[in-house]
Amino acid sequence: MSYLLHIDSSSLGEASVSRQVARSFLEGWDGKVVHRDLAAAPVPHISAAGITARETDPAQHTDEQAAAAAMQDTLIEEFLGAGAYLFTVPMYNLTMPSVFKAWLDQILVFGRTVHHGGPSQVAGRPAVVISARGGSYGPGAPRHGLDYVVPILEALLGHEEMLGLDVTTVIPELTMAPHAPALASLLPKHEASMANAHNRARELAAMIAHTTPAAA
Ligand SMILES: Cc1cc2nc3c(=O)[nH]c(=O)nc-3n(C[C@H](O)[C@H](O)[C@H](O)COP(=O)(O)O)c2cc1C
Repeated sequence: MSYLLHIDSSSLGEASVSRQVARSFLEGWDGKVVHRDLAAAPVPHISAAGITARETDPAQHTDEQAAAAAMQDTLIEEFLGAGAYLFTVPMYNLTMPSVFKAWLDQILVFGRTVHHGGPSQVAGRPAVVISARGGSYGPGAPRHGLDYVVPILEALLGHEEMLGLDVTTVIPELTMAPHAPALASLLPKHEASMANAHNRARELAAMIAHTTPAAA
């Protein structure tokens, strides 16, 4: 029996909109969940020891390389063991929180999780990315085209030359509207976006549990 790997990266804890929408997903998920909160317990940035350990015979590892490799092994095994994925990745300065990028840099390893000329071991497994943002980046918005969270995650997680996961994104937007008087006119759009995001999260949980029974 496999599990859902749930990775959080918002620094806002309970107040995080991404985490709140993830709760709607989890309410509809009966199976085992392995949870990693990168804001509460960040993984280290990839180090020289971590990079060189990948190319070095383990018998020749320095203590630093051995420690870096052991940490990577733990994260990679946890990643590969999952049958489905739930990632909460809010927009920070147009891109992903650095704690999530640090985790990706630890688990995306050519020859282990990503393979030249062949599918990844996790190819086709379902992954849901929930990415709240203060503004709006959809078609017609003044900032359309400036979202460097979702397109990059779709490439890294979803492209067949990378992890090849079956990625679906849920984007609660305009989350600053309730807090910024200048955005008051956008409140109805924000509220509609929130309702859609929670409904979509519930639907996805039911759909993935149904189509990926091993993960649930
Ligand atoms: C450090 C930081 C940077 C942010 N940068 C942006 C940004 O570039 N664009 C945007 O629309 N919102 C930005 N926001 C607002 C967040 O995207 C918004 O609060 C969102 O709800 C955060 O997700 P969360 O509620 O899951 O934590 C930023 C917030 C923080 C804390």
